[in-house]
Amino acid sequence: MSITSKEFGKTNNGEKVTAYTLTNKNGMEVTFLDFGAIMTSLLIPKGDKKIDVVCGRETVQDYTGDGTYFGSVVGRYCNRIGGAAFTLNGVEYKLDKNDGENCLHSGFSPYNNMMYEVETNETPDGPSIEFSRLSPDMEQGFPGKLDLTITFTLTNDNEVVFETLAVGDKDTPVSITDHAYFNLAGHDSGTILDQVLYLNADAFTLTDAASIPTGEIVDVTGTPMDFRTPKPIGQDIKADYQPLLDAGGYDHNWCLNVSGKDVELAASLEDKKGGVKMEVYTDLPGLQIYTGNFLDGDAGKGGVKYPRNAACCFETQFYPDSVNHDNFPSCILKAGEKYEYTTIYKFIF
Ligand code: GLA
Repeated sequence: MSITSKEFGKTNNGEKVTAYTLTNKNGMEVTFLDFGAIMTSLLIPKGDKKIDVVCGRETVQDYTGDGTYFGSVVGRYCNRIGGAAFTLNGVEYKLDKNDGENCLHSGFSPYNNMMYEVETNETPDGPSIEFSRLSPDMEQGFPGKLDLTITFTLTNDNEVVFETLAVGDKDTPVSITDHAYFNLAGHDSGTILDQVLYLNADAFTLTDAASIPTGEIVDVTGTPMDFRTPKPIGQDIKADYQPLLDAGGYDHNWCLNVSGKDVELAASLEDKKGGVKMEVYTDLPGLQIYTGNFLDGDAGKGGVKYPRNAACCFETQFYPDSVNHDNFPSCILKAGEKYEYTTIYKFIF
């Protein structure tokens, strides 16, 4: 087990960006930047090779303003807020309209372009990296300061454990996710359409053509959204089903069958050919499955070009636009209280 670091480049403001690599006792390796807490690579040892199962870019500049959000942590509120506005405690807050009339991943000053303070630790479970940052009052348009700590631990049980802890000084919506793009056959292997997905969810949140929740929670039974029996992602992705046609594939929030009290199994993905499986556990109520529908030959690390459906994101979250839907689990973090959630990616290979 080890933790190493090296210079990765400089931001457009001249700040030095460092890449930190955590290695566990089984030879799994994960690398993060202090820029955006971006996970740039995740290597799974298989035979005499290491398979890099996440998409990434080549340089800091490629990651700057990156609309794919490859590998980054997204906050203060991931996914969409309809009309780029919400009302809280009688005050209306306006956010950036960076997705038509709506706000996506908190607008024009996204977390994937922010610098974090970093501390690394050799813990009994495995190597760990902690990112911290104080988000000022009204940053991205959200009320109150938010003291944020994100920890990733690479355990010797081959898990990447993603923990978020946030405390604000005013009531504020919070939903923080990890936007890694997984392809278990390797980021450079083509599409994930034949990889087998399982989702522990009986329902999803219906969205309109602009991907804003209508408020309706729809039972997946008998629809292409039903992954309770595992099936290849590509099996129904082109079905004549309006939510799939609107999003150009899967880009929806599933309402997880989890209690919220413990970290429970939410999903799994398996590359049967290569023999690599990932299980996703969380205590958050929602999971955005996004099948890289907007990728279109995007330039990646090592000269790779990512085709549409090159990867699948497992974005654990509060439901999108929760702040505007009273029937969704509340995403409001009360002043002085703790936002504390864990998501685990467990690899079996
Ligand atoms: C989320 C959104 C998608 C897309 C990706 C990044 O998954 O729901 O629509 O914005 O992030 O491109």
